[in-house]
Amino acid sequence: MKTVNFTRMEDGTREEYEFLDQLEDEYKAGLPDRILDSLRKLEHSLSGYRINRLEHSLQGATRAFRAGEADEMIIAVLLHDIGDDLAPYSHSEMAAAILRPFVSEKIYWIIKHHGVFQMYYYAHHCGGDRNAREMFKDNPWYQDAIDFCHDYDQNCFDPDYDSEPLEFFDPVLRRVLSQPRINDPEQVARYGNAS
Ligand SMILES: [Fe+2]
Ligand SMILES: [Fe+2]
Repeated sequence: MKTVNFTRMEDGTREEYEFLDQLEDEYKAGLPDRILDSLRKLEHSLSGYRINRLEHSLQGATRAFRAGEADEMIIAVLLHDIGDDLAPYSHSEMAAAILRPFVSEKIYWIIKHHGVFQMYYYAHHCGGDRNAREMFKDNPWYQDAIDFCHDYDQNCFDPDYDSEPLEFFDPVLRRVLSQPRINDPEQVARYGNAS
């Protein structure tokens, strides 16, 4: 079989869906490479800062690594702005969605909301509410999100910091991405709660 025969999914057969599943598994195996490509594109993302978004991401991930953070957190920092390219109005959510199967609920939550927490450092200069993060003050991970932005985001625009290159994080990324949890509603419905 090279392709399925159906033109409407409702007409597909078990054999066809097994065939597609196998191709999907092979495609999923290329995820680390696609993520690395996407990170490289951040080099041409938002301008005006003293370093580009790829360097910012590498600086944050390097700081996380040198602080002794676990692999999941290092990769979360590395990917936290990967949505700047395609999701300029919801970049936090995009990064969180990509990371979701591979990180704890806590890290997922931090990344999903890091944009709001990051506003603390600049929103008052642009007519916004720097304290918008307080809408989450009763969340158990509130302080963790504050710490994330303070330690691995707002301070990572230094052109003199000696960040590790992207290749340094390649094996860490592959390690983290090799163990997806089934925690997305669609995936749970499909595979059961296997984690
Ligand atoms: Fe961000
Ligand atoms: Fe950032």
